[in-house]
Amino acid sequence: MIRLAEPADLPHLPEIDVAAGSAFRDVGMDAIADDDPPPLALFETHFAEGRLWVWAEHAQRPVAFCLVDIVDGNAHIEQISVHPSHARRAIGAALIDHLDEWARDRGLPELTLTTFVDVPWNGPYYRRLGFTAIADDDLGPGLRAVLDAESERGLDRWPRIAMTRHVPIEPGPTTPSSARSS
Ligand SMILES: CC(C)(COP(=O)(O)OP(=O)(O)OC[C@H]1O[C@@H](n2cnc3c(N)ncnc32)[C@H](O)[C@@H]1OP(=O)(O)O)[C@@H](O)C(=O)NCCC(=O)NCCS
Repeated sequence: MIRLAEPADLPHLPEIDVAAGSAFRDVGMDAIADDDPPPLALFETHFAEGRLWVWAEHAQRPVAFCLVDIVDGNAHIEQISVHPSHARRAIGAALIDHLDEWARDRGLPELTLTTFVDVPWNGPYYRRLGFTAIADDDLGPGLRAVLDAESERGLDRWPRIAMTRHVPIEPGPTTPSSARSS
């Protein structure tokens, strides 16, 4: 199930990020797999501001998380990671759908993210979830700054894009927050 993160979750989240990132080795992007996880302070800030969700089975430790910022007046997915032990069960999709309600409650009209264009579980995956690429001329200053900061970290060695998806005005069918069972 999806829930807001609790303090006991936080120490597990960098490990989830590292494990999820190891998939990039399969497509020759070892430098991304070797990237340090976000610092604990980032998780703590998002936790304190209610912008960090996890997916966990009942009272167990989390296996996925999602960090959100507000960028250019939209809900921006700063990071989403699903541990490989629980990958491809639609947990990522359920976490993203869960953000619609949070964004709608705050009058934020779009979900945005930045991602690698060609990695199967990045650009093509988000496209299937209803995200579309934002043309360079349409980037807001905040998203441009996010992409620039990513370039400074060397992420632009592979093509990257910003993507967006409308937040539905009305709540949709209940999100299967438990995602696909194993
Ligand atoms: C992106 C991510 C959060 C998706 O989480 P998830 O719960 O596995 O996602 P879903 O089950 O909703 O969908 C997974 C889809 O991604 C694609 N995918 C995932 N792993 C893949 C792989 N190794 N090869 C090809 N496609 C893959 C498939 O299209 C898959 O759908 P399918 O299982 O129906 O074929 C997860 O893959 C992850 O943590 N990746 C590493 C970190 C990352 O890239 N984060 C996003 C940064 S923008």
